[in-house]
Amino acid sequence: MCGIFAYFGPKDNALEIVIKGLKKLEYRGYDSWGVALKVANDFVIHKELGKIGDFSFADIAKITQSGAVQSKINTSKFSDRFKISIGHSRWATHGGVTEYNAHPQWSHDQEIVLCHNGIFENYLEIKKKLIDKGYTFRSETDTEVLAHLIADYLKNFDFETATKKALAEMTGRYAVIVLFKNEDKIIAARRGSPLIVGKGGVSNEYFIASDIPAFVEYTNKVQYLDDNQMVIIDQFGARFEDMITKLPIEKRVVEIIWRYEEADKGDFPHFMIKEIMEQKETLYRAINQNENILSQVAEAIKKARGAFFVGCGTAGKVCMTAEYIFSKIAKRHINVLFGSEFKFHEHFLTDQSLLLAISQSGETADTLEAIEIIQKKGGKVVSIVNNEASTMARISDMMIPIKAGPEKAVASTKATTSQIAICILLAYALINRLHDGKQILIETASQINDMLNPRYEEHIQQVAEFLKNFESLYIIGRGLNYPMALEGAIKLQEVTYIHAQGFAGGELKHGPIALISKNTPCIVLVANDESKNEILSNAIEVKARGGYIIGISPENAEVFDYWIKVPDNSNTSPIINIIPIQILAYQLALLRQNNPDMPRNLAKSVTVK
Ligand code: F6R
Repeated sequence: MCGIFAYFGPKDNALEIVIKGLKKLEYRGYDSWGVALKVANDFVIHKELGKIGDFSFADIAKITQSGAVQSKINTSKFSDRFKISIGHSRWATHGGVTEYNAHPQWSHDQEIVLCHNGIFENYLEIKKKLIDKGYTFRSETDTEVLAHLIADYLKNFDFETATKKALAEMTGRYAVIVLFKNEDKIIAARRGSPLIVGKGGVSNEYFIASDIPAFVEYTNKVQYLDDNQMVIIDQFGARFEDMITKLPIEKRVVEIIWRYEEADKGDFPHFMIKEIMEQKETLYRAINQNENILSQVAEAIKKARGAFFVGCGTAGKVCMTAEYIFSKIAKRHINVLFGSEFKFHEHFLTDQSLLLAISQSGETADTLEAIEIIQKKGGKVVSIVNNEASTMARISDMMIPIKAGPEKAVASTKATTSQIAICILLAYALINRLHDGKQILIETASQINDMLNPRYEEHIQQVAEFLKNFESLYIIGRGLNYPMALEGAIKLQEVTYIHAQGFAGGELKHGPIALISKNTPCIVLVANDESKNEILSNAIEVKARGGYIIGISPENAEVFDYWIKVPDNSNTSPIINIIPIQILAYQLALLRQNNPDMPRNLAKSVTVK
């Protein structure tokens, strides 16, 4: 994970641009951050623990004037032709959350300064070699190893050659941005983690970032780095190079259309609740698809010898839901796997296999790894993504955009329901009844629109008050709503830190029912379908052991201690039933004084394996 960002160009406020850009990348990690500004042949470096959101821009002047924490530099020398700055927002992998472990990392005398997103898998081996050569390490990070390794090569080679030689030794997935104190030059390289170049409005101005929002306010002209590619930016412009063939690459400049203002909180206190409420409209956007693409994907599923739906976390639960949807609507079997488990099924793959990758960000490393595996076998890939400019969207054979708009809160809400809607459309497309699928979803969107009102939130608030001091709760569902019981548990875990666990209703009696005692809260997801009577029986079993039953259901039932009414639509019940849990999770997060947008230990985009 982690967000990295660099500026190269004429603007005096390079540091401010980088810090503002990093704020936009904070969804990728927010346990600490740091920046470096090149000043003549030296660097000003500043690091802080915690979120950039807490940083006051009035302090920027202090960073440059006081010479910062680690550097004693007279910034009156700051008259360089090019202003060069890099920054990093961290999600810790190697080493705890400390100032030493925050990036930028540097070589001994700060001749090399760099930021890194990803993991260098062989760092220990290289660290040992460097220690044997006399290098000492300040941090526990894998990143510092690269800084020293480049510095070591610098003894015999120029900056560019030294960086290339050092990178050639590192294994793993990464994106890095490297500076050298004696040259006005940025070298950035990508293998597995995203990196995008923005071409500025004035000549010789460039931005390099993990994601477009970091610089979209300055330019919409972008050049995407692909795996094993690097860019070298200096006074002559940007040169792209293939790191394996060592040959130059011509990079197309893509003009992106980006609705920048959409990513604001508006009048809402948090992105999470804003995004939950947006589900009044996002479903309509998801339904509004290019029918030809849906039919082509449906045809590809029919023809495939093995269709694999792959996703992680919440997207993985959407894949599980898809399995039930395809069974119920299209009577067709699909395979479902979490991205991180896909490689263990490699031997089932052939060039006739089809992978359908479901992802909000389109950058999840585990899902990208699954794509790489199937592509090596010659199989085809369809991505169902929110970020249409993402790596996944770009490397897939076909792409279905879910059109949910930027999702900023770490806990996925609107992307989830839109992804389920796409799965429903595909299932109907498979049986040549796409129009029926659309109609059912339009009806659902209108039902959600009616449901999401302040009275509804207040009703959920009451049960949130009841639940706020519990340390565990359970969610059960059957059929289409079993994956949503698992998803509901993820939502609650992420933002409330309550131990929440989802089960298939029928599985309780095989073990988990032992967890139920007096007043144990249990949320029961009910749909008006063939699973209804059985899930209500499971609720009765829990109640008989003292459980407190919160029913999410179109109709009330005697077994419910508390009833949250939902609209009745049996084929779209996973979409409808998850929304009250999203609201409940949000309200509980507030009651437990957690930040629902940036929960502890998490990041929005999981770009490490
Ligand atoms: C949970 C959540 C995560 C993501 C998972 C995959 O609310 O958002 O579990 O679903 O990290 O991310 P994407 O969808 O970006 O591939």
